[in-house]
Amino acid sequence: MLPRYIRIFDTTLRDGEQTPGVALTAEDKLTIARQLDNLGVDVIEAGFPITSKGEVEAVKLIAKDCLKVEVCGLSRALKSDIDAVIDCGLNSIHLFIATSDIHLKYKLKMSREEVLKKALEALDYAKAHGLTVEFSAEDATRTDVGFLKEFYKALCDAGVDRINVPDTVGVMTPKRMYDLICELKKVVYRPLSVHCHDDFGMATANSLAALEAGAEQVHVTVNGLGERAGNAALEEVIVALKLIYGFETNVNPKLIHQTSRLVSRLTGIPVQPNKAVVGENAFAHESGIHTHGVIAQPLTYEPIPPEFVGCERRILAGKHAGTHGLKAVLSQMGLELSEAQVKEVLARVKELGDKGKQVTDEDLMAIARVVAGELVREDRVLNLDELAVMTGNKVIPTASVKVFIDGRDYVASKTGVGPVDAAIKALQEVLNPVIKVNLREYRLEAITGGSDALAEVVIKVEDDEGHIVSARAAREDIVIASVEAMVNAINKLLLRKRIAGSRG
Ligand code: KIV
Ligand code: ZN
Repeated sequence: MLPRYIRIFDTTLRDGEQTPGVALTAEDKLTIARQLDNLGVDVIEAGFPITSKGEVEAVKLIAKDCLKVEVCGLSRALKSDIDAVIDCGLNSIHLFIATSDIHLKYKLKMSREEVLKKALEALDYAKAHGLTVEFSAEDATRTDVGFLKEFYKALCDAGVDRINVPDTVGVMTPKRMYDLICELKKVVYRPLSVHCHDDFGMATANSLAALEAGAEQVHVTVNGLGERAGNAALEEVIVALKLIYGFETNVNPKLIHQTSRLVSRLTGIPVQPNKAVVGENAFAHESGIHTHGVIAQPLTYEPIPPEFVGCERRILAGKHAGTHGLKAVLSQMGLELSEAQVKEVLARVKELGDKGKQVTDEDLMAIARVVAGELVREDRVLNLDELAVMTGNKVIPTASVKVFIDGRDYVASKTGVGPVDAAIKALQEVLNPVIKVNLREYRLEAITGGSDALAEVVIKVEDDEGHIVSARAAREDIVIASVEAMVNAINKLLLRKRIAGSRG
């Protein structure tokens, strides 16, 4: 038997954009749409055209971009909304109207009969305009099941193309979702889809339960973005479908990691480090027992091979580290040490960890060089030559930097929300021709008190290949400490690139 094929309906650009604090420009939306097209999802919900002019502009841009994927727009069961979708040049629509008694009484102030009538009128109107129609009964999972079946059956009889079951406020459990889909399957004879929210942290589990029960399509968002606690995460659903259930999708899992990073960068919503599949720690190992196991045989502690989702394993040095892991980390840095030296480095790393210090890559490099008896000389590809910052209550904070790389000077200026932001942006700009970097984490710690306090900045920086390094710097001046920490981290990334290059 061929594996079952599951359709992936991505709503990152619609429900995902409803994440509090997220507002994408039309260009950003187009960039994400192109990435989703390459990723291989079956449908992209590009937006909710009636909401704003900017939304219309974005959806139009996506609609005329000749993507392979089906592009649809969201619409209430209203002619004005449907016209807005048609005006964007789309031929697929996601219609919705609420059906639960709570929504009918307090929001729509309509009877069940009125809602069904409105839904059928909207479906007729959309079909008369040649649209492919997916219909959602909003708050389906809190709707009386008898009425829900009647509602969906009527839509099927009236020619709907797909039926979607939204768990609008994420109240389902996997068992209840499984049973509901089995019940609905008795009357729904069009492809059935689910749309799960994560209010109780069960969006992925509920989506998978629906698919197990026979649903043919699932709504997802990249990084689990979406209204309130978000939607089922694309990356979790895809990986579980393939590796746990053996179901097929059209998604190329190798593009998952870069898609997650792109969406995080454009939406400004960081991915939590311990997020399944795409979190920074999803393939990181620190404890001695785990690193030993994973180096001997990755299957010991890696249920998902990192390369399956376009990621790399990371072995970290910290207070829980063991010699095997540390040796691997040092070797990645281009340092081959004897057994005794590795043990000595490990002892010092643990000492630092026990003092509550995060051991940065830079710290590790410095310790290893001391233990190896080398002159403690920093390998620097990048040198900060000049830094000038202008700030005040009547000026836009602006920073200029001049750096020296491989015998060449590079200069750039940038503005920012504050002097640190401006300086870091200027540094990113100046390095663009050499390396593209993103600031993943920034921590400022005042080590001493008073206005002349020594500020310690600890940062994590990621390059465009997904390599992350940490570094620190301490100065009385926060801006200089921030830029120096950034320069230190970028030096590690450049060095790493060179070592990898020289190893072929
Ligand atoms: O969660 C929800 O109910 C929705 C609808 C618009 C389908 O996003
Ligand atoms: Zn939703």
